[in-house]
Amino acid sequence: MSLKGNHLTNVFDLNREQIELIFETAKDLKRRQKIGQPHQLLKGKSLGMIFQKPSTRTRVSFEVGMTQLGGHALYLGPNDLQLNRGETIADTAKVLSRYVDGIMARVFSHNDIVSLAENSTVPVINGLSDRFHPCQALTDLFTILEKYQSFDGLKVGFVGDGDNNVTYSLMYLCARLGIDISVGCPPKYNVKDEVLAVAKKEANKTGAKITVTPDPEKAVALANVIYTDVWVSMGREDKEERLKALKPYQVNNFLIKRAARHAIIMHCLPAHRGEELTNEVMDGPQSVVFDQAENRLHIQKAIMALMM
Ligand code: CP
Ligand code: NVA
Repeated sequence: MSLKGNHLTNVFDLNREQIELIFETAKDLKRRQKIGQPHQLLKGKSLGMIFQKPSTRTRVSFEVGMTQLGGHALYLGPNDLQLNRGETIADTAKVLSRYVDGIMARVFSHNDIVSLAENSTVPVINGLSDRFHPCQALTDLFTILEKYQSFDGLKVGFVGDGDNNVTYSLMYLCARLGIDISVGCPPKYNVKDEVLAVAKKEANKTGAKITVTPDPEKAVALANVIYTDVWVSMGREDKEERLKALKPYQVNNFLIKRAARHAIIMHCLPAHRGEELTNEVMDGPQSVVFDQAENRLHIQKAIMALMM
């Protein structure tokens, strides 16, 4: 089984075996990096990184990851390409494919990721779109596996913005891997019907239980993992309304008591402390948010080594 030449636009580009291969490879690369053992699996290769939006983790972990793998990454920011002057995404994909061995892109519209993948002859990796954040979800599940050793019997409770790239990728990946997930969100920022339908269809095959509820306490009841994300994602404009509607969904010491004992607290970061989660929770003993951030590096190195 291989991932060579695959694109990663959405977690459903990967079957269960490929996901397990990414986890095993990431575990091995993490071990090798920790003991200082060289692992230059992409010597002489280049990754083009298109960024239409800001980034700390994605940018740094992909770039450092390529260096550790013996390759090179090019940061192509919002003002670095002719996209700004009207060159199409399709033409950009065709040209970049002649130079680089892989393309990672962070875009506003998911259609841009689809167009890159359709027109590129090298692998395209989604580094976040308005719809999906597959590298994040793979990292999240890898982190959960590290903490619990197995996914058996686990429940994930997500609270906050339901109509969100991180939420959607997490739901899809849980559905594919047979893990129960409950999303607690206000009706105004609900999971879109079409996304829920796709997740449920997949869950029917794997036995995962997927629920969406307006009740945050219900969403995290007996959960082993509590997950949240910012209330105002990049590109969203209705800030004041969101802060008001999402207030009851804050992850705080009261809410986490509803979860299973020792449940881990996750966040893709960047966090808006005091909004979606409190300082006490983010800095508390159950929080794994910085391990999660570190694992972006290991998972993405695995993805690149396997695809490129
Ligand atoms: N979680 C995440 O993608 O972080 P950045 O926006 O900093 O890349
Ligand atoms: N949902 C957030 C994730 C940031 C990593 C956003 O899109 O801004």
